[in-house]
Amino acid sequence: MLVTIRNIAQYVNQEVKLGVWLYNKRSSGKIQFLQLRDGTSFIQGVVVKNEVPEQVWNDSKSLTQESSFYVTGIVREDQRSKLGYELAITNIEIIQIAEDYPITKKEHGTDFLMDHRHLWMRTPRQNAILRIRSEIIRAIQEFLNEKGFTLVDPPILTPTSAEGTTNLFHTKYFDEDAYLSQSGQLYMEAAAMALGRVYSFGPTFRAEKSKTRRHLIEFWMIEPEMAFVEHEENLQIQEEFVSHVIQSVVTNCRYELETLGRDISKLEKVQAPFPRITYDEAIKLLQEQGHEIQWGDDFGAPHETAIAESFDRPVFITHYPTELKAFYMKPDPNRPDVVLCADLIAPEGYGEIIGGSQRIDDPKLLEQRFKEHHLSPEAYKWYLDIRKYGSVPHSGFGLGLERTVAWICGLDHVRETIPFPRLLNRLYP
Ligand code: 4AD
Ligand code: MG
Repeated sequence: MLVTIRNIAQYVNQEVKLGVWLYNKRSSGKIQFLQLRDGTSFIQGVVVKNEVPEQVWNDSKSLTQESSFYVTGIVREDQRSKLGYELAITNIEIIQIAEDYPITKKEHGTDFLMDHRHLWMRTPRQNAILRIRSEIIRAIQEFLNEKGFTLVDPPILTPTSAEGTTNLFHTKYFDEDAYLSQSGQLYMEAAAMALGRVYSFGPTFRAEKSKTRRHLIEFWMIEPEMAFVEHEENLQIQEEFVSHVIQSVVTNCRYELETLGRDISKLEKVQAPFPRITYDEAIKLLQEQGHEIQWGDDFGAPHETAIAESFDRPVFITHYPTELKAFYMKPDPNRPDVVLCADLIAPEGYGEIIGGSQRIDDPKLLEQRFKEHHLSPEAYKWYLDIRKYGSVPHSGFGLGLERTVAWICGLDHVRETIPFPRLLNRLYP
């Protein structure tokens, strides 16, 4: 039976067999150091000429980068290695000698690496990122399941828009027009009235013409929606949720965070409650810092970064002007020119990771918004029904998975946070 590098500690001083690829090789005359990877982790294997049959020595010499083989060896403790173990190789069974591998030790440009994303995924850095992404998803589902949320899957092909019409991804649905989902929210509102607390987790699409380090065309969103939950409780759930996710990664992915050189102490500080400032206060803060911004303007990335710099935890910006936000947000009853919403801005310049709000529950007001936003009442009839048959206060939010991964991993671009990124100029591979 094959063992894995991840579980190698259980086999100290025992002979084990692994299925591996050669990640890198170094030799010094009578010793070869093979950097091996098996998908679970990386380990150094050592072949000593005088201690193995000639065939094994020759086979190890013939291995090229990314060649695949079975390796047998004795697990030794080794304090010098990051893993803490190395493998004293006793046998090699070659599966394939790989052709010249395109990704070499030398520096490659981003475009080259992105063209070879299917191979680039094999590096320790990309392994660490994808494993952290997986842990984030696991922790998200753990939190929501424990809090009594039911997973509900909204459709991907939709007849209408949820988040405005500027970045809709158009397609044909036989003879009709259709759009790839920008957000499952509207459907989750219907589901919340059926099941109470629900969440969706799936891909969403926005034909963003902007080429920034925070925008993907296809990204994954987690969208919880809760009946009988109002603005303040919505924020409390979000801060507990984000804290749980961060602390799970800190606990379970220490090796990966260290591989990425992440400053873990910054993540350890991310504990609820999070600070809150209103949009009005944020505008004032920016004006005091000399930014050219007026009440009614939306925040750009530099504004978000400037606001985040005042805090060591994520910060909620609440009560945005009604005109800036989506049609479904509930106005503040004390001040209808702002809505009961919040964007959660990550620290260290990672920008908005959550957008959320309390939703309009009054059918009359919703119909008025359809008019103001030029939305066809016919197309949104089902959505209005949610307000006609037992309307209740309800709230929800959407967490952008890739921005969360970028923040936790400390990456300067979202393109590395998803296995196969879809960017403005990239559909390959
Ligand atoms: O703020 P947004 O647009 O909110 C919604 O879609 C709501 N319907 C969510 C809800 O209340 N159920 O998007 C939510 C989050 C953003 O905060 C951001 O993290 C991420 O989704 N996001 C993107 N991530 C990567 N690339 C893009 N183009 C993104 N657009 C939004
Ligand atoms: Mg938003």
